[in-house]
Formats: sequence, structure tokens, C-alpha cells
Amino acid sequence: MKVWILSKGKKFTPARQNFKKAADLLQIDLEFPDIRALSKKDPALLDDEALPDVVISRLGAAAKKRELALIDQLEKQGCYIFNRAAAIRVAGNKYEAGKILAMNGLPVPKKTLLGRSTTADALVADHGLPIVFKPVRGAKGDGVQLIRTLPDLVDTLKRTQQQDGQKQYLFEDFIAHSHGRDLRVFVVSGEIVGNMQRVGRGDDFRANIAKGGRGHKHALDAAARDISIRAVQALNLDIGGVDLLFTEGGGYTICEVNASPGFSEIEKANPNLNIALAILKGCIKHPRNTAQSPSRLIA
Ligand SMILES: Nc1ncnc2c1ncn2[C@@H]1O[C@H](COP(=O)(O)OP(=O)(O)O)[C@@H](O)[C@H]1O
Ligand SMILES: [Mg+2]
Repeated sequence: MKVWILSKGKKFTPARQNFKKAADLLQIDLEFPDIRALSKKDPALLDDEALPDVVISRLGAAAKKRELALIDQLEKQGCYIFNRAAAIRVAGNKYEAGKILAMNGLPVPKKTLLGRSTTADALVADHGLPIVFKPVRGAKGDGVQLIRTLPDLVDTLKRTQQQDGQKQYLFEDFIAHSHGRDLRVFVVSGEIVGNMQRVGRGDDFRANIAKGGRGHKHALDAAARDISIRAVQALNLDIGGVDLLFTEGGGYTICEVNASPGFSEIEKANPNLNIALAILKGCIKHPRNTAQSPSRLIA
């Protein structure tokens, strides 16, 4: 079995070393092609013989179009993709992903996409105050704000409605019970491999590790397990980091599902957890579909 991990750069980082160790254990032939170099190549030059069984894509919401196109092409050439380009695109869009989750009967906070005609009064009527404001595509907590007062909301609306409209934003119910904490559940190939409660720094309402949050060991109940597995399934992800917000009465609602979740904090919180090993074990189930050779693509 041959596996590629597509990510940026050539450095043999600690994360790559972990993958290498896990691959040796499972007798997987593991390579780290540089996606930047590969995605600039003429697509016709991809050598069919050299292609792997599985491609693990560590591209996040910031993936470039040509990088996603490369992944699409590898899929068409029969490689199994962890995660597929279309699934990465949808998961990276908090509004689209929220709709799909809701259509699958999963709990998500009520959302309003910011438009030209959005008014502060309508937002307060629908969501109350405080209200959460965030970029539709974002990560690491950047730009995620808690707006507490009507003047602040009016101000935010004025500022963003004056922008060129390239960047989309949404408003969302504030889940007060989850202030400064959430539950990250790591799912690989339909199974939960680890989880942690994330607690934000100081009085920050965001629990992101990138904003100084910390992971703590946490016992998962049946409801959290069920929602997490169904969320990842609904979004067609092989690897997903589901962020659950705690609701009053002991329930959950889904904040977002990350297609490229980090490993280190969750491994720190769970000393026996080896995410790289869990992912490569998931890969073994998917040998390359060689029947899908390029000449058969247009049937
Ligand atoms: N509706 C909400 N209610 C309460 N807390 C929230 C809400 N939305 C986001 N948060 C907090 O902010 C953090 C970042 O929000 P998120 O939507 O996941 O953006 P990012 O993609 O930047 O991580 C979440 O992990 C959570 O702690
Ligand atoms: Mg998040």
C-alpha cells in the first residue's frame, strides 16, 4: 500500500515524523510530495504507475483552486482521497455546511447570511443579543466576534456592508452555555479516535487553540458521539474535527466541522492517542481503484 500526504514544504516536521513512524509500523510506503510543485505541473504529466493508493490531503479552508484541482485529478485517476476536494470546499463554508447538517437533522445554531438588506433590528429579532458574527470561510478564531450591544451591531453592519462584498459573513445565535469552551471530536473513517474539551484563554468566548485555548481530557457521552459521527458522514469527510457547543440541559449543537484538524493539542490531552496511526489505519481500507484508468474517465 502506497500513501501520499499532500501538504506544503519539504521539511521533515515532527508531524511528518509521526506519520513516517506509523507508516513503518503498518508497512505502508509513505511519501510527502510538495503540493505546490505538483499542482504547477502539467496534469498530463502525472505518471499513472507512480500514483499512490490513498492521498491524504492536509489542505485546510485556505486551499488554492489549483491544489483542489490536483486532488480532483488524483481522485479521477483512482486514488482514494482523504478528504475529497468537494468535501473540503463545503466543510470550509460555515453557511453551506450548516445547511447540509441541518438538512440531515443535526443541530446547528440559527444563522443569517449577511446581505445588503440585513438590518440590525431584524438580526436582534431573530437571534437576540449578544450575537455571534464570523466570516463564512475562516479559521483559528480569526474575525469571530461576540457583539453585545445594538450600537456595536449597527456599527459592524455598517462597516461590513460598505466592503466590496468579496468576503462573506454570517450572524449566528450565541450559545451562552458554551462561552469559552467547546468539545472537539476527531473522527477518522466514520470512527471517533479522540476528543478533548477546549477551554479558551481568559474571558475569550472562543476556545481556539490558536487563540491561546487549551485541550483537556473529556468523557464523551452517547449524544456527542452520535452527532459527531453523523456530522462527518453528512459532509462526506474521511477526516473531520467536529466542534460541538454545549447547550443548556446537557445537549450539543454543531459549531463547525474542520476538514484539516490539528493533532498536537488533542494528543497532548490524550497521551495514548496517535492520530497519524489512526489515519493510516483508515487508509488501509482503500486500495487504489485501478479500473478507473484515465482512458475510461469519459464513458
Ligand atoms: N455561536 C456560537 N456560540 C458560542 N460560541 C461560539 C459560537 N460560534 C463560535 N464560537 C466560539 O468561537 C470559536 C471559533 O468559532 P468557529 O466558528 O469555529 O471559527 P473558526 O473556524 O475560526 O475556528 C469556537 O470554537 C467557539 O469556541
Ligand atoms: Mg473552529
